[in-house]
Amino acid sequence: MPEPQVTVNGQPRALAGTPVHTNALDFLRGLGLTGAKEGCAEGECGACAVLVARPDGTGSRWTPVNACLVPAAALDGQEVLTAEGLGSPADLHPVQAELAVRGGSQCGYCTPGFVCSMAAEYYRPGREPRPDGFDLHAIGGNLCRCTGYRPIRDAALALGTPAPDDVLAERCSHPAPAPVATRLPGFARPRDLAEALALLAEHPDATVVAGSTDWGVEANLRGRRASYVVAVDRVPELRVLATDGDVEIGAALTLSEVEVALGDTVPLLAQVWPQFASRLVRNSATIGGNLATASPIGDLAPALLALEATLVLASAEGDREVPLADFFTGYRETVLRPGELLRSVRVPMPPAPLATFRKVAKRRLDDISSVAVGAALEVADGTVVRARIGLGGVAATPLRARATEAALEGRPWSAETVEEAATVLAAEGTPIDDQRASAAYRSAMLGNALRAWWAESAEREVVR
Ligand code: FES
Ligand code: FES
Repeated sequence: MPEPQVTVNGQPRALAGTPVHTNALDFLRGLGLTGAKEGCAEGECGACAVLVARPDGTGSRWTPVNACLVPAAALDGQEVLTAEGLGSPADLHPVQAELAVRGGSQCGYCTPGFVCSMAAEYYRPGREPRPDGFDLHAIGGNLCRCTGYRPIRDAALALGTPAPDDVLAERCSHPAPAPVATRLPGFARPRDLAEALALLAEHPDATVVAGSTDWGVEANLRGRRASYVVAVDRVPELRVLATDGDVEIGAALTLSEVEVALGDTVPLLAQVWPQFASRLVRNSATIGGNLATASPIGDLAPALLALEATLVLASAEGDREVPLADFFTGYRETVLRPGELLRSVRVPMPPAPLATFRKVAKRRLDDISSVAVGAALEVADGTVVRARIGLGGVAATPLRARATEAALEGRPWSAETVEEAATVLAAEGTPIDDQRASAAYRSAMLGNALRAWWAESAEREVVR
């Protein structure tokens, strides 16, 4: 097995000797690449953003990720670009030049992270020329605390397209580095599913990570340490997506990959993506990680419960399939047995025609849910014939709102039914008071989610 190494700004850098809990940010800064900063160490500020060459069709794409969350060992075999690799004071990259000339940087703490997120968008295949070609959501995971966002926005919208001789643009026409199997003390990246299961049998207490957006926070802020880490994000069997018949989504696909691959195939999921953290987080977080970590406030579970998704669990004994509604057994606990891995998520097709995802949080975007509601209805001749509602943030686990479903089914889809069902919904679960919201607020927001959905759908009818 070759020595573990990562290519940083075109230079090979050895990973041997890097402790397993060293994140990519600390590793890069230890190399003297101190542009990327630590602001929050939990994926919320983007000061640590760097670019990784990831597969994109037959080529590759510069993909920005939060370096504070990624274990350095997980970069084995990959190509990384930092702000220093994009340009230098004597030869600024176009993104850096626009930020400088438009006053988009004052203290500069956030700037290298913004530069990386903006560069990823600058090189996005198919991006239209200015002024509308820059998707500002590309920098939605980057916070700035002193410049103010207008000059940063001005710089983004002023960007042209890469020059014909831009080597970083040209790099995208070649494949991303192939995944490599990695063995470092305390860390393993298996080659395939069989090897992953063998590793779990050998290390029954191993921590399984994919994008590491949850584990990274635990390691950085809570000081948690794993006896052994198994990284499954490149296991090919976990990265399959099928849309012929029911939709099957490999557990190790990132949310950004699923978002692009599914488009509007499952409209309810298409509503979730923009509300799920930031682009930086969605570039690393996986669909399997969001479910297997069993957070009661994970944003995907309410939507997938409403879609009646099932999970395929793989083990040395073979696969088994369990409804998502039966997967969560307690706070951060699931039916996963020792040695078992979440292989994929199955979504029955076609999805119910009327669906919504409502997330209540302190900020509209890039925030954690106080409560979340996913709902899917079938309405025939004005009557609700099937209702499925998933809730997050109101109990120790995500759950189905079965009493509300019963209150809707067989009733006319009308303001009166919605009002009665909203009262039932407000009483579902056992919400608690915490720093994000009071129990009373959470209950009130559940009922209001249903009312707001009804009001919007009624408004659409009037407009039509
Ligand atoms: Fe804030 Fe990484 S340091 S997202
Ligand atoms: Fe100071 Fe953005 S320039 S935080």
